[in-house]
Amino acid sequence: MDYENIYIEEENNIATITIDRPKKLNALNKRTIEELHVAVKELDEDPDTKVIIIVGSGEKAFVAGADISEFAHFSVKEGRQLSAMGQKNLFDFIENLSTPVIAAINGFALGGGLELAMACHFRVASTNARMGLPEVSLGVIPGYGGTQRLPQLVGKGRAMEMIMTAGMIDADKAFAYGLVNHVVSPEELVPLCIKIASRISNNSTVALKQAIKVVNAGFKYDVDGYAAEIDAFGHCFGTDDFREGTSAFLEKRKADFPGS
Ligand code: COA
Repeated sequence: MDYENIYIEEENNIATITIDRPKKLNALNKRTIEELHVAVKELDEDPDTKVIIIVGSGEKAFVAGADISEFAHFSVKEGRQLSAMGQKNLFDFIENLSTPVIAAINGFALGGGLELAMACHFRVASTNARMGLPEVSLGVIPGYGGTQRLPQLVGKGRAMEMIMTAGMIDADKAFAYGLVNHVVSPEELVPLCIKIASRISNNSTVALKQAIKVVNAGFKYDVDGYAAEIDAFGHCFGTDDFREGTSAFLEKRKADFPGS
């Protein structure tokens, strides 16, 4: 696929996807969602990609939301479809990806933008980041998983207040809420994400995949997370990565994981 609204840079097994519609504050239109889906899927299938970072282009925004101009005249059926397809192809897709995904929040992360960041496995923010779910101010509600993931991350009361007021919180408050793991200057944002990604990339991709799966299992109402952990833990014992990781420890050397 030829990308129009994103671009990908890859170095040392770390891929950075930049959402590149700065004139529209990187708002997620249909095309951008499709491009992100394809990019994330292809990177996940590439064994050379160990970690993915998602960032917005320009200094102003990560993503200022779903593209309002595209859905302003939608019917009930179209609205439902927009939410269902977005969740399936991008938001749930990223959350359940085997490859770790980090959101680098560089400015506004609003509506679908904050929902995208929340679908990533964790978030790092720059000091100029502003986050919120303003949908009720448009007469709609968050439709890309925001009503579910925000309470998981910050607690029900804080999520209710953010959703009901449609307001924005700054990076420090997001850090205090546990919505972002680190706050750094805009210049330090991507370098810090790369530093964290590089630490992750030294670990077993097979074990990382199982860890993501099992942490997510605990947030699914129809899955027993503890039982999922037992299965995944057992599964790891049959992998080459486990043999290499444990042998390397006992032989006092750095592990060189085969990724199987
Ligand atoms: N969808 C479509 N276009 C958007 C957008 C969105 N979610 N967010 C910003 N844009 C566009 C603006 O329409 C504008 O386009 P134009 O120059 O062609 O008029 C451009 O991006 C720049 O935005 P602008 O509003 O002029 O910037 P600002 O600095 O004055 O305000 C925001 C920044 C983020 C406060 C403001 O753009 C905003 O409130 N955006 C919508 C946020 C939102 O409700 N998101 C949830 C959607 S469900």
